[in-house]
Amino acid sequence: MKIGFFNRKGGVGKSTSALNFAAGMARYGKRVLLIDCDSQGNVAASLGMNPQMTLYHPLVVPDAIALSACIERPRDNLHIVASDMRLAQAEQVLGAARDYDALARLIATVDGYDVIVLDSPPALDFLFYNALCAVDEVVLPIKADYLSVNGAREMLNVIEQVAAGHHAVTVAGLLPTFYDARRVLDREMVELLKLHYDGMVLDPIRQNTDLAKAPAFHQTIFEYSGYSVGAQDYDVLARRWL
Ligand SMILES: Nc1ncnc2c1ncn2[C@@H]1O[C@H](COP(=O)(O)OP(=O)(O)OP(=O)(O)O)[C@@H](O)[C@H]1O
Ligand SMILES: [Mg+2]
Repeated sequence: MKIGFFNRKGGVGKSTSALNFAAGMARYGKRVLLIDCDSQGNVAASLGMNPQMTLYHPLVVPDAIALSACIERPRDNLHIVASDMRLAQAEQVLGAARDYDALARLIATVDGYDVIVLDSPPALDFLFYNALCAVDEVVLPIKADYLSVNGAREMLNVIEQVAAGHHAVTVAGLLPTFYDARRVLDREMVELLKLHYDGMVLDPIRQNTDLAKAPAFHQTIFEYSGYSVGAQDYDVLARRWL
């Protein structure tokens, strides 16, 4: 199974969700590979890693460097392919070649994983499309505000276009993030999403400062604060895929 967290909007909880969903699956014994497709490199930073070999290398010189050579093993069941600033150069190489499938080709060479999770960049660039063309399922994290609901329609259109023309990918769900049930706006936003996208709205991830603090300790939410609402919510999300 290959699943990615996508939204061109920044700061909606893509990286937090990718990491903690991956960690949540790993807790149930799934062998998980988390691939960071964003040059911001949040996955490695969140786990306190600074690997030399990153996704950049196999994307730019696939004949010389295999994706498997870039896999780090920070936890037993949670392996990662990291990224950093150099990935922006790889994006230019992909763009110049108009190559949408480079990442899918790399992922096809790796085996031994039950779940492959992708974090994606906040942009409709070639890394975004390469990530989209490499997954079977998409989760759209959406922060609670009205503009985000419009953004969701735009993102769903992009995914539909890719699904229709190029690569079979399905939307697993819209994931409300930073949710605070005490805020009227948040409750209204989720109701609005349910109205527009019946049956597609996943249980929300609540606002939880532990989720923001965990990376400073290089831990997943389950390690940093196993009883937090953040841990509970990402556990619920992970269990949908067991
Ligand atoms: N549910 C939450 N409650 C509180 N803070 C959160 C929550 N989810 C994420 N955060 C924090 O909000 C910030 C943005 O989250 P994150 O980096 O996951 O978003 P992103 O969509 O990946 O951003 P970008 O588009 O820049 O890649 C981070 O500091 C993160 O720790
Ligand atoms: Mg991110």
